[in-house]
Amino acid sequence: MSRLAGTLLTGAMLVTSALNAQAAPDATEAVSSPDGRIEAVLALTAGRPTYSISRDSRPVIQPSTLGFRFKDDPPLTGGFTVDGVERSAVDETWRPVWGSASEVRNHCNELAVRLKEEGGRGRVMTVVFRVFDDGVGFRYVLPEQPGLGSFDIVSEETAFRLAGDHTVWWNRNDYDSYEHLFRKTALSAVEGANTPVTMVTAEGLYLSIHEANLTDYSGMTLVPEKGVRNSLAAELVPWPDGVKVVGRTPLATPWRTVQIGERPGDLVESHLILNLNEPCVIEDTSWIRPMKYLGIWWSLHIGGETWHEGPTHGATTANAKRYVDFAAEHGFEGVLVEGWNTGWDRWGAKGAFDYVTPYDDFDLEEVARYGREKGVAIIGHHETGGDAADYETRVDEAFDLYRRVGIDAVKTGYAGGIYPRGQHHHGQWMVFHYRKILEKAAEKRIMLDVHEPIKPTGISRTYPNMMTREGVRGMEYNAWSEGNPPEHTTILPFTRMLAGPLDYTPGIFDLPLDEFKPDNRVHTTIAKQLALYVVLLSPLQMAADLPENYEGNFAFQFIERVPCTWDETRVLDAAIGDYVVIARRSGDGWYLGGITDEEGRVLEVSLDFLAGGNMPYLTRIFRDASDAHWETNPTAVDISTVELRAEDTMTLELAPGGGAAAYFRPMVRER
Ligand code: NOJ
Ligand code: CA
Repeated sequence: MSRLAGTLLTGAMLVTSALNAQAAPDATEAVSSPDGRIEAVLALTAGRPTYSISRDSRPVIQPSTLGFRFKDDPPLTGGFTVDGVERSAVDETWRPVWGSASEVRNHCNELAVRLKEEGGRGRVMTVVFRVFDDGVGFRYVLPEQPGLGSFDIVSEETAFRLAGDHTVWWNRNDYDSYEHLFRKTALSAVEGANTPVTMVTAEGLYLSIHEANLTDYSGMTLVPEKGVRNSLAAELVPWPDGVKVVGRTPLATPWRTVQIGERPGDLVESHLILNLNEPCVIEDTSWIRPMKYLGIWWSLHIGGETWHEGPTHGATTANAKRYVDFAAEHGFEGVLVEGWNTGWDRWGAKGAFDYVTPYDDFDLEEVARYGREKGVAIIGHHETGGDAADYETRVDEAFDLYRRVGIDAVKTGYAGGIYPRGQHHHGQWMVFHYRKILEKAAEKRIMLDVHEPIKPTGISRTYPNMMTREGVRGMEYNAWSEGNPPEHTTILPFTRMLAGPLDYTPGIFDLPLDEFKPDNRVHTTIAKQLALYVVLLSPLQMAADLPENYEGNFAFQFIERVPCTWDETRVLDAAIGDYVVIARRSGDGWYLGGITDEEGRVLEVSLDFLAGGNMPYLTRIFRDASDAHWETNPTAVDISTVELRAEDTMTLELAPGGGAAAYFRPMVRER
């Protein structure tokens, strides 16, 4: 335990003294990662707390502010002494229900520093650090105490003072949507971002800032810190009246996370975000199962069919059965049906949907029964149009109806401004709403796929029925906008996907969209669409195109075969925004996906991830034909089968906007 010995300063003097690197701290407490390379330090300088993070003794985060400002209470930013220090270590291995690995090691050292105001109300604020070999998480804990009961936070004072003007990939700080392209700029040009925010230093260290376990709090965005170079400050998403968080003690904030790696792939292979969440609270998880699914969906986005009733209504009983038949024939576990319930002609209006009344041409019970007979689960759909308030009053009945007919996976959607008006998708009210629906779904044994969601922060460790979510500019944008440029999916694994799985909905084979959307298109080759099944993690993984576009195409074999949950994941090679090659293991088989941006390129990848030295693997490769190009010749795929071993290298020749996919099966020799 250390005690503050300094003089207490006030007002402006405090600010300057705490920020002055020269001023000697009155107290410091440090904690290192298990391998000793990363260190987090909490310092008190004239009573003001700051934290810093270093790796191999070089600064990653320079001393940065901590604390809160309140609407009615004095700020909790200074005047502290250290009132107690606790240290502990965690080393456990846990098994996720699904994910990028079948075993996850949670290995870190923890430091909790209890700060107490010397004067005034003597309020207490504890800062807890967990330091892993691949990064740091820290959170505030405001214990129950006489001097602090309920409060309105108007500012969380956390800043991230980076050690240089790094190169950053960022998505703008929209409070209602993550569906934007990423920008790559210098840190000094970041205008405001949603997290994860990923960056590379001049020395080539990769960093990503995000949050873990976002519970009953508002989402964190990052904005340039006023008057400080190369620094981002937390800016929480507000309530309609500008307050950021309505809270009461005891309160633990989400973890603020800084992932650190030497390769871009280190960030992807990390489990830090999941590890900073509570263990699974669902006792029997046997009903939670990863699925590949088809759906009455793409036809709606390209305009071939409609959500609402009419001559080209998509969700008819007959059409749903056609999808079920195709799914059963090709080994898909699920079929999503959108536009089955009344209200679509009033989409966005208050109370547009009741979630229980099917259109006249859709027999919900019969479709669910038919699916069951064929071994295909129907995935239900609740589009709220943003009316979360109304959804809360109807969701019990809506989930119960689905359960009654045997449907246990539901896609939800919040496409539109939130009711209550003025609330944001990423604010505390909605964070609470999304969790309430998730808990209800867990009670009723329903798996969720949430669109227009709050970003993932690892909650799926605690509630593994939180399968996947959007929160990304996904495939749909290719159907009705200028689309997603080829580089988009080479950025996603290192940004959005660090937060958790994404329902990007890959698998479009009719890329030019000539029939329905001649002015729109998908900016990839077919081989790249296949590779996305390995590159992008989603335990509910869609084959998004129409059945008729898969029929008779040999490339579809890869989608039929590829799993959507994994035992092991390795990023073999990557340059963020240029290309990425990922290998994932399922049982004793391996799957590889490599994708590139608008540049064609040749990549050599070592196959040393394969087991057994000299053991041959029967490898089926789906690659861009030599004249393939996302714009002029996107559908040309070469498929070949070869024998490869761990000692071999594989040459991936990727077309502009192209990719390559492969699966490796160990060859069992006759004795
Ligand atoms: C937007 C979602 O992202 C999309 O998947 C869905 O089809 C529409 N909203 C309608 O719910
Ligand atoms: Ca969307």
